[in-house]
Amino acid sequence: MSKNKEIICLGIESTAHTLGVGIIDSSGKIHADVRSSYMPPVGGGIHPREAARHHSNIAPKLIRDALKEAKLTAKKLSLISFSRGPGMGPCLRTGAVIARSVASYYKIPLVGVNHIVSHIELGKLLTKTKNPIILMVSGGTTQISSLTNNYYTVFGETLDISIGNCFDKFSREVGIHDPDNPWPGPIFDKVAAKGKNYHELPYSVKGMSVSFSGLLTAAIRLVKEGIKLEDAAYSLQETALSMLTEIAERAIAHTRAKELLVVGGFARNKRFHERLREICKDWELELSVCPYKYTSDNGTMIAWGGILDYTASGELMPNESLVLPDWRSDSVEIKWN
Ligand SMILES: Nc1ncnc2c1ncn2[C@@H]1O[C@H](COP(=O)(O)OP(=O)(O)OP(=O)(O)O)[C@@H](O)[C@H]1O
Ligand SMILES: [Mg+2]
Repeated sequence: MSKNKEIICLGIESTAHTLGVGIIDSSGKIHADVRSSYMPPVGGGIHPREAARHHSNIAPKLIRDALKEAKLTAKKLSLISFSRGPGMGPCLRTGAVIARSVASYYKIPLVGVNHIVSHIELGKLLTKTKNPIILMVSGGTTQISSLTNNYYTVFGETLDISIGNCFDKFSREVGIHDPDNPWPGPIFDKVAAKGKNYHELPYSVKGMSVSFSGLLTAAIRLVKEGIKLEDAAYSLQETALSMLTEIAERAIAHTRAKELLVVGGFARNKRFHERLREICKDWELELSVCPYKYTSDNGTMIAWGGILDYTASGELMPNESLVLPDWRSDSVEIKWN
């Protein structure tokens, strides 16, 4: 296939809870985006093998749904992309098997992309940012980076759990639960918004890295000591967001960047936007948040990452397409910039 021709890529996301299938073309037009999430047991986290079973059961229907939404047949696709890592081994392997099967059956080139880099690249496409500082905040990741010398250099990251996971664990532990959504993020936001009294909690910033596990334990202890749930959630949220705001400000001061981009599922936290807007105003820089629908895991970002990677590096041979569960985003050479 000529690399100058329009590419239509189907992307398969399967790193954790979500199987997502997205279709995008090389002009950046999104043709389809369908998803299905594995439901963890009430009050529990993801069981990787159960999530992988969910993904393999739902995949044929989801691929058909995506093609239907895009009004395309599989033969019209020019590229198949899958998330190669980082993520949970059983979930990644399931996505890879599906991608290899579709690619080899229809004789379509295959690429395997980094999940975190794909979150960032779709965020950049949709917000039209050029060279932002990036806060990648989700259920599995908390990282601050920017593109320097063709790598997303990580200035700082969490030294233990991610911000999303910290709030999710707190919610599960203290019984904040939404019967319609296995991820407590949105309901935690509502509870924390009702809090009024701030209680001192451990604040842990080391250079441009952060640590949330001591903060989590202390916030749970507040509730056990009889502090109102709303106030404990509010105190936890304000402390954690102050930590992230501090590292963002340091990165801005260090790079003098003109744009700050927030991607990942936790980018939906409204209070986080308010806190970041304060520093962006001080530093006269633009805050860009990935559009709500595309913050959490989706196939479209994998399809877009696939187009960028294929255009720069060509296809990945199926016999060399092993998954990479520990693949760091800062080890990926960004050849397409
Ligand atoms: N409105 C919200 N406010 C805060 N957090 C939210 C909101 N909606 C979702 N989240 C959080 O986003 C996280 C899920 O995001 P995402 O799907 O991007 O993460 P992940 O795939 O688990 O992690 P990673 O992308 O690092 O592999 C969960 O922790 C969830 O609670
Ligand atoms: Mg993700």
